[in-house]
This record gives sequence, C-alpha cells and structure tokens, in this order.
Amino acid sequence: MKGKDLLSMTDLSSEEIRVMISDAVEMKSDKWHNILDRKILALVFEKPSLRTRVSFEVAMRQLGGHTIYLSPAEVGLGKRESARDAASVLCRLVDVIAARTFSHETVADMARWSDVPVINALDDVEHPCQALADLMTIFEKKGDLHGLTVSYIGDGNNVANSLMLGCTMMGVNFNIASPAGYTVPESILTTAREYAEGMNTAVFCTDKPSEAVRDADVVYTDTWTSMGQEEEAAKRRELFAGYQVTTKLMNQAKADAIFMHCLPAHHGEEVTSEVFYSPASVVFDQAENRMHIQKALLSQMLGGLDVFFRRHK
Ligand code: CP
Ligand code: NVA
Repeated sequence: MKGKDLLSMTDLSSEEIRVMISDAVEMKSDKWHNILDRKILALVFEKPSLRTRVSFEVAMRQLGGHTIYLSPAEVGLGKRESARDAASVLCRLVDVIAARTFSHETVADMARWSDVPVINALDDVEHPCQALADLMTIFEKKGDLHGLTVSYIGDGNNVANSLMLGCTMMGVNFNIASPAGYTVPESILTTAREYAEGMNTAVFCTDKPSEAVRDADVVYTDTWTSMGQEEEAAKRRELFAGYQVTTKLMNQAKADAIFMHCLPAHHGEEVTSEVFYSPASVVFDQAENRMHIQKALLSQMLGGLDVFFRRHK
C-alpha cells in the first residue's frame, strides 16, 4: 500500500485488507502514537461530511500528523482551477490527499497528477474507506469474515458498490435487493462475481428484500437519495417504499444478525428507528471504526506502521 492511491476497493488485495483490519484492531486499543509525525493530510471536500472529515482529522492528530480542510466553497475543482492543477500544487505541499468529489473522474484525475497518495473519501461510484470500516466492524462482531452473508437492501449506490467488492474479495457472500433501474452497475457486478468465484462464495441480486435477507448475518442499508441527487428525493421515496429495513425484515434474517448503516440515516425511510436503535444495530461502532481503519490505511500509505511495530516489539 505504501505510496499507492486508494480510489476503489479494487486497488486493494484481500491480503492488504486483512492486514489493515488486523492493524486497525491493534491500534484501536492503543490510540496515541507519533508514527505520522509532521505528516500533513489535505482534505478536499466537494460535499458535506461529518464522519469522514472528523475521523480523518482525529486519526492524523492521534498519530502526530496534521490536516488541512478545504471546504466545498473553497475547493472549486473544475471551476476555480482544474483537478489536475489543484492536485499538482497540493502534492508539492502535503504528504497525502483525501478527496470527496461528485464525480469519480475528478478524484481519479487528482490521483493521476498527484505525486503523493490520493484517497477516495467518497465519490459517485465508490466509498472505499466506508467499506473498510464495515469489514472491520463485521470482523469484530462476528469473529471472522469468510463464509458470512451480508444482505444490502436499497439503492445500488457508492456504498453498495464498495461493500459488494470488499465482501466478495474477503469471501463474504453478498445478497442485494434493489428496485429495477437502481441496481449496482454491471461492471462492478462482474468484478464482484469474479472475486466471489475465486473465494467460493456467491453474489445474489433480487428486487425482493425478503429474499435477500434470508440467512443473512448482516443486514445493511443506506440512504435512498445520495448527495447530489436531492432533486430526485420525492421520486425515490416512492420507488424505494418497499425497501425499508423494519423489525419484520430483520426477523427474516439469522437470529443473531446485526444491522449496519454507513450514516447519515433517514429514520422512517430506509430504516425504522426501532431497528436503528435496537440491540442488533452496530451503526455507531461502524462510525468509530472509520477512524481506526483510516489510521491503519494512512500508516500503510505513509510507511508509519514500520515505526509502530518496531517500537512495540
Ligand atoms: N458515512 C460517511 O461517510 O459519513 P459522512 O458523509 O458524514 O462523512
Ligand atoms: N450514499 C451516500 C453515502 C453518504 C455517506 C451518499 O453518497 O450521499
């Protein structure tokens, strides 16, 4: 991972993910280390954020580094200057860049022209940092990943795409229920099926939530209307009405199934408050794990883990 970009889950190998989860679990119990001393992360955000911004900022501070946040109003990628020019300047000044963009092309363009690693902090196609935190959370709650079944209910969006790729890469069966026209893109599905085949697991797509949650260890959902799609909100609420995660739906999954959501959540839309605040819900563990897994990611990218493990031998 050293010096590499993270634009998509496909940039990682299953071994890299396994090591990252194990590092993150270790760093979780031992928070403050100077392993990224004097390293600087630029956060370039075209969209709002709570978890991603705060988890990156706290992660860098706990590891001795610093962050510079550029808000949607300040960024102006493609307006004030091109993504290429912005990245070409930033990489002369900072050690790593995390960018949240509307279009995947924008963050890919930044990576193309940056000499320092670029992390996709969410775009219209993927949200890899979220999927890594989710895999870590599932691993913590279930003790293993291989052979489990994750069922995703709702929009085949950025979160679904990265989760599907991450799960299939790690030997987790992936079921997804989405209405026609809102399924994951064919290219992602093809890659996920290839990963699944290599791991002896399966991808199952349906438009019926009750079929998808059968035998599920994890039931996952996300907003019906992602950032940038606000004009479609009313139409989507209507279309996705049958895709709410309710107690009745949770009861059709395994008895010990957990509920997951990347947040922010819309209570009464994709999930009921009853499920969201139920004992099965691990949504706040997921949010916390964003920080722990991003520490492992940043440390691997910037070479800090060598220091961490040398010091602790
Ligand atoms: N889950 C997530 O990425 O949250 P934010 O949009 O608040 O960063
Ligand atoms: N799918 C959501 C995820 C938010 C973290 C969005 O893109 O808005």
